[in-house]
Amino acid sequence: MPKKTLQFLFGLLFAISASTIHAASKDTSDEDNKLNGDCIGCHYNVTPGIVKQHLESPMANAKKHEDSVSCTDCHGESHVTNDDYAKAAMPTMETCAECHKKETKQYKKGKHNLAWFGMKSQIAWHGQPGAIVDKGYKGCSGCHKLGKKGILGIADGKNELTHDNGKEAADYRYGNAQCDACHTRHTFSQDEARDPRACSNCHMGFDHPQWEMFMSSKHGIIWSIEDQKGERDGRAPTCQKCHMNEGDHEVTTAWGFLGLRIPTQKNVLALIDAAPSLEQPLRDLAKLLPTGSYIDVDDDPQWVLDRALILQAAGILDSGLQPTERFVEIVVQGRAARAPEEFNALRTKMKNICNECHSKGFVQEHFVASDNVIKAADHEFAKAIAAVQALYKDGILEKPEGWDFAPDLLHYYDAKTNVEQELYLIMLEYRQRAFQGAFHASNDYMHWYGWAPLKTAVNNILQEAKQMRAEHEAKQKH
Ligand code: HEC
Ligand code: HEC
Ligand code: HEC
Ligand code: HEC
Ligand code: HEC
Ligand code: HEC
Ligand code: HEC
Ligand code: HEC
Repeated sequence: MPKKTLQFLFGLLFAISASTIHAASKDTSDEDNKLNGDCIGCHYNVTPGIVKQHLESPMANAKKHEDSVSCTDCHGESHVTNDDYAKAAMPTMETCAECHKKETKQYKKGKHNLAWFGMKSQIAWHGQPGAIVDKGYKGCSGCHKLGKKGILGIADGKNELTHDNGKEAADYRYGNAQCDACHTRHTFSQDEARDPRACSNCHMGFDHPQWEMFMSSKHGIIWSIEDQKGERDGRAPTCQKCHMNEGDHEVTTAWGFLGLRIPTQKNVLALIDAAPSLEQPLRDLAKLLPTGSYIDVDDDPQWVLDRALILQAAGILDSGLQPTERFVEIVVQGRAARAPEEFNALRTKMKNICNECHSKGFVQEHFVASDNVIKAADHEFAKAIAAVQALYKDGILEKPEGWDFAPDLLHYYDAKTNVEQELYLIMLEYRQRAFQGAFHASNDYMHWYGWAPLKTAVNNILQEAKQMRAEHEAKQKH
């Protein structure tokens, strides 16, 4: 049978079932039903895949028939012919919010909603051509589009994010729906979203290989052997079980993407003994920081100092250890790190989830050991940072034009020297894999993809810095 005829028959078949579902069920005017029938009738030929998925979706077949959702609920009624399709509305998260208030409210509190803002807080993002980072959703923006566009930050004196009222989103015809990241259109299924594979297109690869780590942990292996898919109460925990427990759409972890915490007043004041020459800047910094302390985590002054160096190399603290604009934008507004109250609450919640299947002692040991991987990694990283900072201080390296800080980890792969390229790899690849692998119980990621190349990179940096220094001194003598 010719393909065209097949398509026509297929279309007819669905046109009938569509009209029965919608005409019989929707408690709206005949006019609305007819309009929706028109959308479906014509779109059988225009986009048959979309029509099929929609008609088989839970939303087109709500438990209460009169609640069933139609094309017009999401795309409006302005486009009705072959030529005026530019008038079709493209849904945003607010469209879904009309019927799903609870999920939307939770989502807005979590980190996913901040994904677009977080991406744009990166100086490296601004340094790349548009095709690489922005329209067309090919790189950064393809994953980060699950965040809301047009977040402006926190207004003075307010405790909530302000928005541009849709101005930035209006520049983009597609990709403003956010909610379709895990339950993809036009099926919009919760079973799909509950399957760990739904997270894997984004949570994979270079700097956050959670999918690979999960699949190489016993949790992922059991999930796979027992063919658990999106099952809620399987023997193995899924990403969703640990991070979206009971369907909570607010995703946030204690340590966050970068394994950082906001130092507390106590942390910083304890450094004065170790570094008396820094007393004044440390006292100034402490005034801006939260009180309280972190549960479980061993905060000896050496670690605090190591973390301070990392924050300096990321331009989050300046050379006098004071917070920069980036501190405000990335840490406070983009919520890249937590303060004690939030950290402790998130950690306790996570431990309770583990505790459904493991003993308290087992879980405690796992967490503390993972914290200590961050601590050990930070110490190695700080040694390498100090060596590169010294190259700048002693005039062996010169701050590149247009840079506010040097070294500056946040220029990523635009770093100008080998030693700084290595620092960038430590920050975004090796250190990440070491601690994320530890938490996700993937020993190979923790060690051979994380710690081992981290040590190699640190050793290379120390060696190369020594050589650069010797060459510089030889030149001076001439
Ligand atoms: C007479 C045929 C016809 C009818 C009726 C129709 N459409 Fe379309 N629609 C089209 C065509 C043609 C396109 C463009 C398809 C393409 O570019 O491949 C389109 C595109 C769209 C798009 C995508 C627009 C874009 O910019 O990518 C949406 C959404 C859409 N239609 C929704 C609807 C809805 C909702 C209705 C009912 C209110 C409807 N359509 C009725 C023919 C129709
Ligand atoms: C006009 C109201 C309405 C709008 C708008 C709407 N939904 Fe729904 N949604 C429903 C109804 C009704 C159900 C089915 C509940 C039932 O089965 O009784 C549902 C179910 C769902 C489910 C669960 C499906 C399952 O597998 O059980 C998901 C996920 C979902 N919607 C996501 C979305 C997303 C994403 C958007 C925005 C793009 C959206 N909805 C817009 C009314 C709506
Ligand atoms: C479309 C890409 C995408 C998908 C799909 C996705 N995420 Fe994310 N996720 C992100 C991005 C981007 C961020 C970082 C957001 C930011 O800037 O804070 C993030 C952040 C997170 C965080 C917060 C980490 C922190 O900083 O505390 C968790 C937890 C998380 N995602 C879990 C999940 C889970 C579980 C799934 C699947 C059910 C999932 N994500 C699906 C892109 C995605
Ligand atoms: C493959 C999808 C993907 C691509 C491409 C991608 N990201 Fe991400 N990004 C994520 C995910 C997933 C997270 C959260 C990971 C985690 O928490 O471990 C994230 C986290 C981040 C964070 C941390 C946010 C926070 O507050 O913790 C920033 C900043 C960021 N990405 C910026 C960028 C920039 C800039 C680019 C392009 C140069 C980019 N990303 C490319 C998926 C992606
Ligand atoms: C629950 C909401 C919802 C319903 C119902 C819905 N859509 Fe969509 N549709 C979306 C979302 C979300 C997008 C993605 C928008 C974006 O990329 O910003 C989309 C995109 C589209 C696109 C363009 C993107 C593409 O993949 O080509 C077309 C065409 C379309 N829808 C047609 C339809 C038709 C026809 C119907 C009815 C059979 C329908 N939609 C029902 C939410 C919906
Ligand atoms: C990071 C992935 C992810 C994103 C993004 C996401 N969801 Fe979900 N959603 C899930 C998961 C997982 C479930 C299943 C929860 C469960 O039952 O444990 C779910 C379930 C749902 C349900 C069914 C709830 C019920 O109890 O029947 C609705 C409705 C829904 N989501 C709407 C939304 C809306 C609206 C958005 C955007 C604000 C959204 N989702 C964004 C992962 C996601
Ligand atoms: C057994 C529970 C569990 C499972 C399963 C799990 N995670 Fe995690 N995840 C954790 C813990 C524990 C942390 C560290 C929490 C903290 O910061 O204290 C974490 C941290 C994260 C982070 C923040 C950065 C990092 O890696 O440390 C992201 C993003 C994340 N997980 C995503 C995922 C995704 C996506 C999956 C599935 C592919 C997944 N997780 C599977 C428990 C789990
Ligand atoms: C739904 C049940 C369940 C939850 C929740 C759960 N696990 Fe597991 N976990 C298992 C099972 C089953 C195994 C494999 C059998 C075993 O080693 O106990 C396992 C294995 C492990 C292993 C490997 C043990 C080994 O000997 O190789 C570690 C580590 C682990 N889990 C840590 C955690 C942590 C940490 C959490 C919470 C963030 C957690 N698990 C949550 C069920 C669970």
